[in-house]
Amino acid sequence: MERTLDKITSLCKRRGFIFPSSEIYGGLGAVYDYGPLGVELKRNVQESWWRAMVYAHENIEGVDAAILMHPKVWKASGHVDAFHDPLIDDKASKRRYKADQLIEGHIERLRAAGKEDRARAVHERLVRALHADDLPRALHAIILDEEIRGPDSGAFDWTDVRQFNMMFETQVGAASGSTIYLRPETAQGIFVNFHGVRETARLQVPFGIAQIGKAFRNEIVARQFIFRMREFEQMEMQYFVQPGQQREAYEEWRQKRWQWHAGNGIAEERLRWHVHDKPAHYADAAVDIQYAFPIGWQEVEGIHSRTDFDLSRHQEYSGKKMAVFDAREGKRYVPYVVETSAGLDRTVLMLLCEAYAEEEVEGARRTVMRFAPRIAPLKAAVFPLMRRGEMPGVARAIAQELRSSYHVFYDEKGSIGKRYRRMDEAGTPVCITVDGETLSDGTVTVRDRDTLQQHRIAKDACGAYLRDALQA
Ligand code: GAP
Repeated sequence: MERTLDKITSLCKRRGFIFPSSEIYGGLGAVYDYGPLGVELKRNVQESWWRAMVYAHENIEGVDAAILMHPKVWKASGHVDAFHDPLIDDKASKRRYKADQLIEGHIERLRAAGKEDRARAVHERLVRALHADDLPRALHAIILDEEIRGPDSGAFDWTDVRQFNMMFETQVGAASGSTIYLRPETAQGIFVNFHGVRETARLQVPFGIAQIGKAFRNEIVARQFIFRMREFEQMEMQYFVQPGQQREAYEEWRQKRWQWHAGNGIAEERLRWHVHDKPAHYADAAVDIQYAFPIGWQEVEGIHSRTDFDLSRHQEYSGKKMAVFDAREGKRYVPYVVETSAGLDRTVLMLLCEAYAEEEVEGARRTVMRFAPRIAPLKAAVFPLMRRGEMPGVARAIAQELRSSYHVFYDEKGSIGKRYRRMDEAGTPVCITVDGETLSDGTVTVRDRDTLQQHRIAKDACGAYLRDALQA
C-alpha cells in the first residue's frame, strides 16, 4: 500500500475532513477549511495538547492573545527585519521557489543516487550559506555551481535570489501609515503577557505559558495540502527558567514532546530528531521532531532553547522591565526560555497520514483510518438495519443515550456494508447495529473498526462497551 498525499487529500475532501477554502470561487492557495470530521479531529488534538501541557503541570497556565499586536512587537522580535524567505524565479516556467528548498531537493536526489560524499559537501555548503552575511548571494552561487534545474521546466535559467518578508500587512483604523501585521507566530503573545500571567496566576520561575492560536505567513511555495499553509494554527509553550537551567528544561521538554506524539498513536519509527547544527544566533540549542510524511521527513514541532533573547528585546523596545526578582536567592534576572512549538494542522496531517491504511477484506478493498480512539473524530456510529419499522427508533434512542458522553453518528441510509465502509474512512472505532434480534432479545451487533470482529451485546451495555473500547 502506498500512502500518498494525493490519496489523503482526496479522502479528506470526500469524507469531510478538509476542504480547499472558498472552493466555489476556485479556492485560495494554501488556505483550507475543516469540515465536520476535520474539526473534531483538530479539537481532539488541541484538547490532548492542552491537557498534556496545562492541566498536567501545576506551573503552566494558558492564554489566548490577540492576532493583531502593536507593530513594535515585530520589530523587537526580529520579524520585520529578518522573517524572510530567499526566493528565486525560474524564467522559463515563471514559477517561484524557495532557494534553500531547491538545494535541499538537490541534496536528496544526490543521496538517492548514492552520491553520499557529494550530498554531504553540498549540505555543508548550504549550512554555511544559511549563516552567511549575504545569504541570497551564497544560495545563488550553490544553485549555479550545482547546475540545479527548474523542477517544473527542467531549464537552467534563474533570476537572482531575493529576500521576501513573509508577514501579512494590514492597516489599522482609517489613518494612513498605521501598518500592522497578522501575527506570524503565537509566541510573541506569550512574551508580552509574561508579567501579567506570572503575577495573576501567582507563578514563580520556572513556569510556562501555553497558547493555541492562528498564525499567518505569506508562504510562497505552498503546494503541500495542509503541510504548508498561509493561515494555520500553532500550539506553543514558553517555559521560563533561571539562566543556567535551560539545558535541563530543554532535555525534559524534548522527551515530553516526543512522548506526546507517540502517545497519540504515531509509530516511533516514523519520528526522528533533527538537531540544528547551527541554531539561530540567539539560541543555545534547537531540535525539531520530524515525521516521515509521504513527501519525506519534515518538521512537525520545534523545541528551542532561546536564552533571554525575546524578553530582553521586549525590555529594550518597550522600556518595560522584564526581569524577575528571586527572593530565595536574592537575585534579579531576565529569565531564559525553552520553547515548544508545534503546528496544529501539521500534527493533524501527520495523524491523517499515520492512520491511513488500505487493505483487502473478503475480496474487496477497504480504506480505513486507524486513529487512536481518543483522537478519532467520531467515537461510534449507530445503524438500524432497516429504515422502516421499529429499528430506527431503537437505534436513535441508543445513539441519543451515548451522545451525553461521545460524539456519535446516526445513519439509516444505504446498505449496511456501505455504511460500515464510510465509517472505516472516518476512522470510527465502533459501529453498533440494531437488527431483528434486537427487537426480540434486546441485543445489538458491535463491530470493531480494526479487527472487523462482530459480536452481540445487550443494547443497554453499549455505553460501558464504548468506554472500554475507547480506552484501548
Ligand atoms: N515560535 C517558533 C516558531 O514559530 P516555526 O518553526 O517557524 O517556529 C513552529 O514554527 C511550527 O509551526 C512548525 O514546526 C510547524 O509545525 C508549524 N508551521 C510553521 N509554518 C507553517 C505553515 N506555513 N503551515 C503549517 N504549519 C506551519
